[in-house]
Amino acid sequence: MFDNFPLWPARAATTAGQVDALYIFLVLLSAFMSVAIFIMILVFATKYRRRHGRQAEPIEGSISLEITWSVIPLGVFLVIFVWGAVIFFRERTAPAGASEIYVVAKQWMWKLQHEEGQREINELHVPLGRDVKMIMTSQDVIHSFYVPAFRLKQDVLPGRYTTMWFHPTKAGTYHLFCAEYCGTQHSGMIGQVVVMEPAQYQAWLGGGTTTGSLAQSGQTLFEQFGCNTCHRFDVQGRGPNLKGLFGKTVQLEDGRSVVADENYIRESVLNPGAKVVSGFKPIMPVFQGLVSEEQLNELVAYVKSLNTPASGAAGTPNLQSPGIQPPTPKE
Ligand code: CUA
Repeated sequence: MFDNFPLWPARAATTAGQVDALYIFLVLLSAFMSVAIFIMILVFATKYRRRHGRQAEPIEGSISLEITWSVIPLGVFLVIFVWGAVIFFRERTAPAGASEIYVVAKQWMWKLQHEEGQREINELHVPLGRDVKMIMTSQDVIHSFYVPAFRLKQDVLPGRYTTMWFHPTKAGTYHLFCAEYCGTQHSGMIGQVVVMEPAQYQAWLGGGTTTGSLAQSGQTLFEQFGCNTCHRFDVQGRGPNLKGLFGKTVQLEDGRSVVADENYIRESVLNPGAKVVSGFKPIMPVFQGLVSEEQLNELVAYVKSLNTPASGAAGTPNLQSPGIQPPTPKE
């Protein structure tokens, strides 16, 4: 209906229609109430205008009137609340099997890493009709990933991952904005999301040069940093075996339990002492400041790849012990 309306951005994801429907409902409801109130003002102003010999009669409260004007708005607000909550939870919960894109925001650009190993800056290529999950972090201040055509906006915070997902429904090129004031070049922190036909996308994937998948790069780092000397796959090492870890509930030394998600793995690399696994000693060195955000994403992708048995090289244990080498952060 509004596809050609100049103030309305294109709708290019499944979320767009849902958000628009709620938005239109809110606008119509507000418009209806405003018009109704103005009409009542005019009606009452005429009906109860000052006339000679007439006196106002005070009203002495009415329970039924009070119940009516409480219950009807409550019902209307509950409809808005439930409607909004349903959209919110749908937007926040990525479907299983979504392809994953890692995003690192910095002043003032977007850096994107595909699972297949492709890297992009300020440009994101995705295929039409596939679920895409964004796993995002910032290496400096708070940014916000905003794609109006998808009706999606998510803050991107330093020191942790936030996620969002979308399912593109229309091929095209769409604006990507930073929606959180992040410094002098904030307005220049823009880019585009290119939604391509699947065949075109395959061609695009094949076109670039990569150094292997994200998980493979992660495995290289895992060996470079000597993680595999303690996190072993063959025998019980000094650190927990990471095979099949992702998504599991982990018992901690202090009695707590946590789910091993992206944020847990991230924290366990940067600051291993924060959550020590039950039965292990806090002997792992701190990697805060030694790995870049991109390298951290690669390590997270590697640990996740250990869950799927037939993922080629990414699951192969390295039995040699190169010892802990000085890390070589990129950039
Ligand atoms: Cu990044 Cu504004």
